[in-house]
Amino acid sequence: MKSKSTRNSPDSSTRENGQNNSVLTVRGLRVYFFTEEGVVKAVEGIDLDIKKGETLGLIGESGSGKTVSALSLVQLLPIPPAKIVGGSVFFENTDLLTLSDKKMREIRGGKISMIFQDPMTSLNPLYSVADQIAENLRVHRKMLPDEATKEAIRMMNVVGIPDAERRSIEYPHQFSGGMRQRVMIASALSCLPALLIADEPTTALDVTIQAQVLELIEELKQKYDTAVLYITHNFAVVAEIADRVAVMYAGYIVEEGDVYTIFENPKHPYTIDLLSSIPRVDKKLSHLEVIRGSIPNLITPPEGCRFHPRCKKVMDKCSKVVPERVEINERHFVRCHLY
Ligand SMILES: Nc1ncnc2c1ncn2[C@@H]1O[C@H](COP(=O)(O)OP(=O)(O)OP(=O)(O)O)[C@@H](O)[C@H]1O
Ligand SMILES: [Mg+2]
Repeated sequence: MKSKSTRNSPDSSTRENGQNNSVLTVRGLRVYFFTEEGVVKAVEGIDLDIKKGETLGLIGESGSGKTVSALSLVQLLPIPPAKIVGGSVFFENTDLLTLSDKKMREIRGGKISMIFQDPMTSLNPLYSVADQIAENLRVHRKMLPDEATKEAIRMMNVVGIPDAERRSIEYPHQFSGGMRQRVMIASALSCLPALLIADEPTTALDVTIQAQVLELIEELKQKYDTAVLYITHNFAVVAEIADRVAVMYAGYIVEEGDVYTIFENPKHPYTIDLLSSIPRVDKKLSHLEVIRGSIPNLITPPEGCRFHPRCKKVMDKCSKVVPERVEINERHFVRCHLY
């Protein structure tokens, strides 16, 4: 769907499982929180694949496990109460879950960079914003100090920070929330990551800036073949940016496929409900539906398919047996007893 270019990444011809252009391969990832109230089964065996230059949109209602999944990929979960109870996360031939903190820190902010909703968690209050971006450039792109500072200011301009040169010496607390968000985005994009993880990065931004950020990410992909994991509740954003979509519900990926397939031929009743609950230009407003009920408590989730209490197509089997992941078509997967 999108153009490919050559990236100076390490040789990838010997990657695991023969997918030689796969940047990220997640298998059976399970994450639980051990709390006083009980065990929260937040992520229950997810599989993800993202290839070079591909954007995977991860979508689902609040509490479905999107952020927990993203944090576990880069070892940023609070452990305890969290624990990764199973699975593997292969990035360029290495299982990230087996890396030491030190090795993981080298990869984070370098080959893998992240943009989260709350910029204060990733900005250091003690350094000026340009210094933080420049530091990334020195470490990960081996730039000299002057060159790094120049590039940092350029990136601040690119993400639309007005008066970037003058403001470059200011500290994070001197920036508004939206501007801090842009600093974080500038910092994440500046080191030309092989994988960018973006967790609802544009929610706090106004619509024009949102569009600019999506464009920036698109540019990064085109230029450097960056793989992107883009988390959102917004199907309109998915339509804009994603090549593939994974729909998450209560800890499971219930459907995955390319963006056209998911929009035009959704299979899982949850995906169908999600799509019909958003306004579309080709549908009358009276057709808008809201999914009944809410996401279950993950300490005592429903048996069988976790969606069955809310499902319009529920059958006997659904409350007893967890549906397997079945392939409907090439690279279109669904977890539902209807198929
Ligand atoms: N520190 C924690 N302790 C206990 N449970 C947690 C913790 N962090 C997250 N959870 C639980 O894990 C589940 C998944 O949460 P997560 O934040 O991944 O949802 P999400 O899909 O990112 O939602 P949103 O769209 O609101 O960001 C939820 O049930 C949440 O309550
Ligand atoms: Mg979240």
